[in-house]
Amino acid sequence: MGGTWAQMLPGTAEFTDNDLTSQAGKVFIVTGGNSGIGLELVKMLYGKGATVYMAGRSPSKIAAEIESITAQPNKTPGVLKGLHVDLGDLTTISTAVSTFLQQESRLDVLWNNAGIAHVPVGSTSVQGYEAHMGTNCVGPYLFTKLLTPILVKTADSASPGSVRVVWATSSIVDMAGPPGGLDLSEQAPGKHNQDKAHNYSASKAGNWFLASELHKRTAREAGISSVAVNPGNLRTKGWDGVPFLMRTLLSAFIHGPEKGAYTYLWAGLSPDVKVEDGGKFVIPWGRWHPDPRTDCLESLRSKDEGGSGLAADFWEWCDEQTQQYA
Ligand SMILES: NC(=O)c1ccc[n+]([C@@H]2O[C@H](COP(=O)([O-])OP(=O)(O)OC[C@H]3O[C@@H](n4cnc5c(N)ncnc54)[C@H](OP(=O)(O)O)[C@@H]3O)[C@@H](O)[C@H]2O)c1
Repeated sequence: MGGTWAQMLPGTAEFTDNDLTSQAGKVFIVTGGNSGIGLELVKMLYGKGATVYMAGRSPSKIAAEIESITAQPNKTPGVLKGLHVDLGDLTTISTAVSTFLQQESRLDVLWNNAGIAHVPVGSTSVQGYEAHMGTNCVGPYLFTKLLTPILVKTADSASPGSVRVVWATSSIVDMAGPPGGLDLSEQAPGKHNQDKAHNYSASKAGNWFLASELHKRTAREAGISSVAVNPGNLRTKGWDGVPFLMRTLLSAFIHGPEKGAYTYLWAGLSPDVKVEDGGKFVIPWGRWHPDPRTDCLESLRSKDEGGSGLAADFWEWCDEQTQQYA
């Protein structure tokens, strides 16, 4: 319960764009960078001289945001580019990664921010997965897998721990979802749970599991940090599907989206985050979760480590689902 309150009442942000040195020469991808928290993050990174890819499914929205950001006066502008990827359609992902790799020879931080929340029960991704699971986990799994070689290559010559993968999770993991965080048997076509909060929560536990498994399987050895981040409760269109009464009751605890970008900045760029922190859960506005769900921690541990091994099973499941699109 302490963790829930820590996320609802996060205090003051201690790491913001004012604490960032120049990011010129670095290359970043922010999925969902055309809206909400991702958009605020993109503006901060661009203003520090970085090359930033705003990756998303809506080319016209991306173009409009790029035009708007680059039209503003900026003392140290970076380079801002769009990248088309629909994470709910696995057929678009390898093309997006190839397009990126044709233009860049490094990737310093990948923020897997894009996501959908509280969409109606019965919604699916293009390949038929429960919509939250397909868009928030299966697509980002493949996108990250295909970008892992360039992350590893970048980490070879970058300063230790500076290459990172940040996965958007949520405080809903502490409040909803099945025991263990997610239930693999609910992911089969036609077996989806009938509660949208449950489905959203399961996908956000999935993001935490992917952060942890990437850490164990590749990132730790490659010197890459892979963490899960609850950016905070933030005023974005992600709340459109939450019942009106709930939104009204929680309104005092909902903040401007730039605050969420501070949480992402901390996870992606603060020197406080180390490679060995991989798999941990970050809470607003940039600190470690004091009291993560014990059943989820058990999922993160392998059977050899005394856990259930669910996170590893989930990674393998994502891998099987995406093999033919890799
Ligand atoms: N806001 C909160 O309180 C809160 C709390 C905890 C976690 N989060 C997480 O924060 C992340 C960002 O959400 P937000 O609140 O900033 O909401 P948002 O304003 O709706 O932004 C979501 C972004 O994801 C993109 N997106 C959605 N489906 C996609 C797909 N199939 N392929 C590619 N991009 C897609 C959206 O693109 P379009 O603009 O084209 O739709 C948009 O750019 C999400 O992962 C969410 O789970 C948010």
